[in-house]
Amino acid sequence: MAASTTPRPGTGRWRPLAMALAAQALAAAIVFGVAAALDAGAGVRLPLIALLAVQGVGAAHLGRRFGLANWWAPIHLVLPFAIAAALLWRLPPWVFLAAFVFLLLFYWNSVAGVPLYLTNRETRATLAGLLPETPGFRFIDLGSGFGGPLIDLAARRPDGRFEGIESAPMPYALTWARLLVQRRPNVSVRYGDFRSLDLGPYDVVYCFLSPVPMPALYERAKREMRPGTLLISNTFAVPDHPADETREVPDRRRTTLRVWRM
Ligand SMILES: C[S@@+](CC[C@H](N)C(=O)[O-])C[C@H]1O[C@@H](n2cnc3c(N)ncnc32)[C@H](O)[C@@H]1O
Repeated sequence: MAASTTPRPGTGRWRPLAMALAAQALAAAIVFGVAAALDAGAGVRLPLIALLAVQGVGAAHLGRRFGLANWWAPIHLVLPFAIAAALLWRLPPWVFLAAFVFLLLFYWNSVAGVPLYLTNRETRATLAGLLPETPGFRFIDLGSGFGGPLIDLAARRPDGRFEGIESAPMPYALTWARLLVQRRPNVSVRYGDFRSLDLGPYDVVYCFLSPVPMPALYERAKREMRPGTLLISNTFAVPDHPADETREVPDRRRTTLRVWRM
């Protein structure tokens, strides 16, 4: 997913939501306006399901034009059907509350400006090439999601120790369950907020977050990490502190890994 997946500093936390609602409202107005005109003018009645589908596709397209990230597209596609179902079938409000709570367990940190998206295979391979050659190093993924990078890198480098910290309940629980099944002795994950984690013991600190936490994280890394250790950010830069090295990943989204040597 592109770097535009999160609000840019200064654009406001609620702006993406406002843009998404505007895209839906505009798409609904166009689709149902044209449908009403066809009905009135030519007596053509289009099936509701088709109108809802076109509204969803239109809203997804408009959302992209308004600068929304790709992950809004499925939300745009589903929303018209959810609203229609609620209105036509009179769904009880607890259904929406349950759906909201379920999503919250995954996207806990999105409100704080860090959504959930995952490091892809090609990026994990490039990341592996940045790991220290000396055995026994400690690596941590700040906001470890479903544990993909940890498990992949731990298999490539059984001589390293791979740790994750995650504060969204569901990704943490799924990583924990994955480790229970896959039994990787050199991987562990803990539940918690990386903002209160001491970065001092780590040789490599990896993160794939958003522009929001990067300046504070960089300052902490400079204070806490030992000389020669690495801070690696997937995609997101630190304003006024260019990385010492960048690695371009040959993937579809043209990922850049930014490396600061402390
Ligand atoms: C973009 S995802 C990256 C997941 C994983 N590192 C990967 O690359 O596949 C960011 C993750 O950071 C988590 N996160 C955000 N803020 C956090 C915080 N303050 N403490 C711990 N985890 C956090 C989110 O819940 C999410 O799972």
